[in-house]
Amino acid sequence: MELLMKDPIKLPCGLWLQNRLVKAAMAEDMADSSHLPHSKFLEAYGKWAKGGWGGILTGNIQVDVRYLGNYNDLAIDEFDDDTNAVLDTWRLYANRCQEHGTPVIAQISHPGRQSRRGAGRRGIFTPTIAPSPIPLYLGDGYVASCISSMVFGKPREMSINDIKQVIHQFVNCARILAICGFSGIELHAAHGFLLSQFLSPRTNRRLDEYGGSNDKRVRIVLEIIKGIREVVPSGFCIGVKFNSSSDDSSTFEDSMRQIGLLVEAGIDFLEISGGTFEDPIMMGRGTYSDRKTHRSHGTLAREAFFWEYAVKTRKRFPNLILMLTGGFRSRQGIEDALQNNVCDLVGIGRPAVINPAYPRLIMTNTSPDHQAKVSLNKVATPFWSTFFQINALGGGAETFTDLNDDRGKEIKNPHTIP
Ligand SMILES: Cc1cc2nc3c(=O)[nH]c(=O)nc-3n(C[C@H](O)[C@H](O)[C@H](O)COP(=O)(O)O)c2cc1C
Repeated sequence: MELLMKDPIKLPCGLWLQNRLVKAAMAEDMADSSHLPHSKFLEAYGKWAKGGWGGILTGNIQVDVRYLGNYNDLAIDEFDDDTNAVLDTWRLYANRCQEHGTPVIAQISHPGRQSRRGAGRRGIFTPTIAPSPIPLYLGDGYVASCISSMVFGKPREMSINDIKQVIHQFVNCARILAICGFSGIELHAAHGFLLSQFLSPRTNRRLDEYGGSNDKRVRIVLEIIKGIREVVPSGFCIGVKFNSSSDDSSTFEDSMRQIGLLVEAGIDFLEISGGTFEDPIMMGRGTYSDRKTHRSHGTLAREAFFWEYAVKTRKRFPNLILMLTGGFRSRQGIEDALQNNVCDLVGIGRPAVINPAYPRLIMTNTSPDHQAKVSLNKVATPFWSTFFQINALGGGAETFTDLNDDRGKEIKNPHTIP
């Protein structure tokens, strides 16, 4: 039987993806002090460009160089002059990603309260910004709260002017990326970054037009989408990465209402993920994950962390193009999700680092299904984080690999879910 993952798909904006596998966004943390995509990016993305992906999502690109997630993030500053030579660096990056015909979608982002001290061009004592001045909660212990305060600090509540500026920065960033040849952007409204801080009542306690009700919490994202549509060509794709909610029914209904408003705003796809720095369930860790439910179903094929939430979203929004990211490792797991109509696109994170040509591996491999999978090294939570009751932040340890590493090309080991 032909694999469903091989089917091309057309997004509402008219952009075609040649198959259903999308390299997920993974912050590279390898920009130099200019925060531009220099040679290391061209090398890494040159490998993904040849990998046979339906689409490539870049790691998050920050819209304000003062506020970065990692110290070496990419960032796009304001450019009044669209002929600025700096833009050529971005053009080269877009061209490299797309040189074998795979469209590249740039993930654009602002870390908000998740910007560490020293990450970004602001003074070490200048606080980051957030919808409300609520510091990160990294755990109950004294050490955890010290780390939260030393590493992140208490954010400054954004004024209306700050919000307008951030909206402008997202819109301008998308405009520049469109000029430079990117096929689209994805707004990072998940994982506890600024836009997801606005969406959540836990981190957005505002009582003005950007908070106080569910509709007001989503307003900043809607204004950004509207602004972007006005400045980019019609074929330019706009997606949103969105956090699934827990099963708490009011939170769930609120999230469905927010998705409904995003659909009305005309997004091309919604990527479902979950978690924050405080509770990193997007990495398969943390306190809550759909996957615990899957385990009880006893189906090995259900690898995805957010399967149940995707099923519910699909029921409400049957025409919305859904991408599901997190946990997929095997051909069988991916086909299971597509055959059950759980999603249209499958986001692949860590396996894409282990093997940049992962789609070729599982689409052309003649080995039986039970062998068509990539295994990741399991990285144990460090003892000190358990001892000091600190929620783990990172998830990249499994991906520390040389891109020339051949692991994953030989599929022998039973896979280990991280
Ligand atoms: C090193 C690393 C960096 C990441 N950076 C981003 C990012 O910039 N934006 C984002 O939305 N998700 C980011 N993620 C999360 C992935 O996109 C994905 O949701 C997560 O890894 C789960 O998918 P997987 O199980 O296929 O790895 C990152 C993950 C890793 C491992």
